[in-house]
Amino acid sequence: MTQRPRRARRSQLSVPGSSEKMLQKGAESAADHVFCDLEDAVAPSVKVEARDKIAWALNTLDWGKKTRCVRINDVTTEWCHGDIITVVEKAGANIDTIMLTKPYSAADVVFLDRMLLQLEKRLKLDRRIGIEVLIEEVQALQNVEEISRCSDRLECLIFGMGDYSGSQGIDTRDIGGDGGYPGDIFHYARWRITMAARAAGIDAVDGPYANFKNEDGFRQEAKRAKALGMVGKWAIHPSQIAPALEVFSPSAGEVARSRKMRDAYFEAEARGLGAVQVDGVMVDVAVLRLVKNTLDKADLYGL
Ligand code: COA
Ligand code: MG
Repeated sequence: MTQRPRRARRSQLSVPGSSEKMLQKGAESAADHVFCDLEDAVAPSVKVEARDKIAWALNTLDWGKKTRCVRINDVTTEWCHGDIITVVEKAGANIDTIMLTKPYSAADVVFLDRMLLQLEKRLKLDRRIGIEVLIEEVQALQNVEEISRCSDRLECLIFGMGDYSGSQGIDTRDIGGDGGYPGDIFHYARWRITMAARAAGIDAVDGPYANFKNEDGFRQEAKRAKALGMVGKWAIHPSQIAPALEVFSPSAGEVARSRKMRDAYFEAEARGLGAVQVDGVMVDVAVLRLVKNTLDKADLYGL
């Protein structure tokens, strides 16, 4: 299997592909990753012209180090194949990943994989385009393990709780909010998606929080996602970028403590010991594994 690129995904900003102004704002933003949307944020009457706006934005704006992603319409719509062909023909060299909406099973993702393979050959693109997938149908959650392993382009599974709630019949109007359900209504889906993603060696990311004036609510959801092993959360508005970057980055204190624990462990190991204490806490090879997760993030985010 080919090595997948490692990308930061602490904050994935959703930008309606129909708005040049918002595309510009997205390019200038502090998000790690921006997805230019052709799906729910774009009205059917302007979906076709939005493809050209996205190609223009990808080819002409300065995106810095951001991951440049295009979110396309699902495989049952009249737009899906045209979305893929047009954006890759017009801007393929400036696309890092394509995000597929509403797959039901692995076959839907393989369709995108094969379309990309053909286009990359014909256009002689020297860099492979990656795939990100939304888990937002009940069938997709049932098939998540199979989906997670169906393409070596796949880099990320995203929990799309808005459409997922519609698919399951969950009684909520406030996308991303907990709706007052005792416990966390999205716990099972997040857990299952994250487990599948980790087993397949890819990222899990949490979807939108619609009430963008409620920063405390956003942070609470982001922390829940992070606790389960997700690496980031969507922003539907620029105000949600900074809180996501903060929640999903290890703090300076955590990084320093992790380095200290790692160094102490290796010193102990060199002396023939399997466990050592650091500031009253036991560090052994299992703790080292947790510490390594933090240090890998610090490396990836340049902390
Ligand atoms: N990406 C880039 N820029 C955005 C943005 C986004 N997602 N959301 C808002 N902005 C810009 C606005 O254009 C505005 O720019 P200005 O100050 O230069 O006028 C600024 O940020 C502040 O926006 P604000 O006035 O608070 O909100 P709004 O009424 O313009 O937009 C929404 C609110 C919800 C319509 C808008 O945030 C949006 O379209 N979000 C994305 C929706 C989406 O992608 N849905 C699908 C995925 S769930
Ligand atoms: Mg949707």
